[in-house]
Amino acid sequence: MKSLLPLLLAAALAGHAAEPYQIAVIPKGTTHEYWKAVQAGAMKAQRELTAAGVPVNVIWKGPLKEDDREQQVQVVENFIGRRVSAIVISPLDANALIAPLATAVQGKIPVVTIDSGLNSPLPSCYVATDNREGGRVAARTLAGLVGPHGRVLMLRNATGSSNTEEREEGFLEAMRKEFPGIRLVSTDQHGGVTRDNAYRTGQNLLNRFGRELDGVFACNQPTTAGMLLALRDAGLAGGKVKFVGFDTGVVELAALKAGDVSALMVQDPFGMGYLGVKNAVAVLRGEPVPKIVDTGVTVVTRENLDQPAVHDLVNPPLDQYLK
Ligand code: BGC
Repeated sequence: MKSLLPLLLAAALAGHAAEPYQIAVIPKGTTHEYWKAVQAGAMKAQRELTAAGVPVNVIWKGPLKEDDREQQVQVVENFIGRRVSAIVISPLDANALIAPLATAVQGKIPVVTIDSGLNSPLPSCYVATDNREGGRVAARTLAGLVGPHGRVLMLRNATGSSNTEEREEGFLEAMRKEFPGIRLVSTDQHGGVTRDNAYRTGQNLLNRFGRELDGVFACNQPTTAGMLLALRDAGLAGGKVKFVGFDTGVVELAALKAGDVSALMVQDPFGMGYLGVKNAVAVLRGEPVPKIVDTGVTVVTRENLDQPAVHDLVNPPLDQYLK
């Protein structure tokens, strides 16, 4: 019996050492396809780290709708109550989430932001698109399609969402500075956080401006999907009105192939999920992490869709990582 003791002790110690890090990953919402890629990326990091002897358990939970501030705050508070090891989050409001995330950091739960920023330096690391630049590139892409005297409108997303607000600002900044001959016929309408809402706003805008319009910019997935429906309804799809959207999904890609969308600004949500978890674990292990990681944005058109890098970006390996 005595001789078993060292073995039992060693097993207990090994068991203790192998206690997985609990990483809470909190999206802005859980309905849009965009988040599937983020989740798959997070699972890839979990798998890789665990295989490398750093056991990690990703817990995925977010509010249903991307404008439900209270619910996202509650999710954060619940994770603090459960004493997770770290929080990886896309704050749906850059201000409303500061207080609960500050509580996490005070409680020694590090925070990494992904996708959308927080108006605070408290996150250890921020993994996202350079959204202002993404907006500028969208402006240049649309300007190239409508010409120097085109008439364009921009459909906004939601107030408080820092990444889409930066895209909107970047778009307007580049349009005003670089293309002074282009007329911005409407830039203040919000499509909101669902496709259906964006569809209704899109219909109203096209009723008003459709006859004198050359181009449209929509700044994220639901606004792109809603505006697409509105353009089709109004008989303005198929390139009659040039349409630059943001993000991809099954519907947006089919529309690009069909010519109803001229170009898509594609982010790397898979990379955000992956690097968000990787950096959170690095913080926990006392390793240095960069304050900002730019995951890039790519202009995707019918012409470059089949290039291997673009093909991989718009077809993240969801099946491999999500059940
Ligand atoms: C944004 C996310 C947003 C998603 C769906 C993306 O463009 O980066 O923050 O949640 O669209 O609305």
